[in-house]
Amino acid sequence: MTSRKPFVGGNWKMNLHGAEAQNLATQLTESLPTTDKVDIAIFPAFGYLAQVGKIIEGSSIKLGAQDFYHQPNGAFTGEVSLSMLTDLGVSVVLIGHSERRHVIGETDSLVNDKVLAALEANMQVILCVGETLEQREAGKTDAINMGQTLLGLAGVKAEQMAQVTLAYEPVWAIGTGKTATPADAQSAHLHIRQALAQSLFNQKIADAVRIQYGGSMKPGNASELCGEPDIDGGLIGGAALQAADFAAICETAASQ
Ligand code: 13P
Repeated sequence: MTSRKPFVGGNWKMNLHGAEAQNLATQLTESLPTTDKVDIAIFPAFGYLAQVGKIIEGSSIKLGAQDFYHQPNGAFTGEVSLSMLTDLGVSVVLIGHSERRHVIGETDSLVNDKVLAALEANMQVILCVGETLEQREAGKTDAINMGQTLLGLAGVKAEQMAQVTLAYEPVWAIGTGKTATPADAQSAHLHIRQALAQSLFNQKIADAVRIQYGGSMKPGNASELCGEPDIDGGLIGGAALQAADFAAICETAASQ
């Protein structure tokens, strides 16, 4: 089996104003592990990408964007393009976060347009998938994850998969304090990996793809989650807003 370097993302969502964002970024440059055993990215709100980018410049922390629009330019009021993000030093983008799917109404087709455009623009992509509570209770977890994975990655070439990370984020675990058990999360990750191997690419590519877990990951549960064989780090919301918590999760992921 291929060994995968864990990848931890801090998704700040629509939180932290200027001074707070700058403070947190400064604290992170001082407290995050400098080991090369984990990749780390932070995703501030759009308005503060430039400020935060300046603070983390020269560190190993990657600057990420929470969203973008896939068209290169034009009459798309309110939207931000990939080349604008590149200008700001962004090298990694979240796509298909459940809040965009379920609150803003993004479809699998739009998610796929964004994946293809971001890969073309040489961004690292984190494609988020995950089931709602209703879908889980109906026994549809693996079918939903497989559908979102296959539709999201439609048309992606095998050689582009080195730029892709998946994030399994069960919707019912996001911001709720409820975490998938390590066994449930591992099972979902394994099924996603099998979908990559059997329905899209091959085992070698599937084994190399990192799959993060997201949904109330905290310092206290990161170790058992990241200890599962198919969990390769995390996508962190609430705990990413505290430098000490985020640093602890990164340390844990690096030490697995
Ligand atoms: P929480 O860690 O707050 O549950 O958020 C997870 C998430 O949505 C990260 O993208």
